[in-house]
Amino acid sequence: MIELTINGTTRQLDIEPEMPLLWALRNELGLTGTKFGCGIAACGACTVHVDGQPVRSCMTPVSAVQNGQVTTIEGLAVDATGNRAITAVQQAWVDHQVPQCGYCQSGMIMAVSALLADNPNPDKATIERSVSNVCRCGTYPRVSKAIQALIAEQATTNTPQGETA
Ligand code: FES
Ligand code: FES
Repeated sequence: MIELTINGTTRQLDIEPEMPLLWALRNELGLTGTKFGCGIAACGACTVHVDGQPVRSCMTPVSAVQNGQVTTIEGLAVDATGNRAITAVQQAWVDHQVPQCGYCQSGMIMAVSALLADNPNPDKATIERSVSNVCRCGTYPRVSKAIQALIAEQATTNTPQGETA
């Protein structure tokens, strides 16, 4: 039996310890916002947070996150009182019309959210290193525009843009 804390709720799952977290999320818990792309930790479609850090769940066994707090895209937009509240990153994605087909975007948003929560003013090299997610639709210019807008907004409001708005 594996115990996982996902989006603030602890669940007991009758699964093997080596099962990738992605399969536990999608197949056992029905949290299908986290996507399968490459399966080899290369594309970032499966990105979730574990204790606030971005993790590629396709190559992460559930045994490795048993003591951590896992957050998926479904749990991202929840404020401190548990109410739904779009995050600043999600709002920037809307404002800049970032997604095309949308398939990669939950992973993209999770990667950007973790980066900006950790570093509100990342330089170009840090952004490229931290947000190495693959988008087959080529939304990179709009992703970049949205990130720059979030950095500028953070500079004027002093509100970490990786947090809930
Ligand atoms: S599906 Fe996990 S990185 Fe591509
Ligand atoms: S928006 Fe289609 S793969 Fe990124």
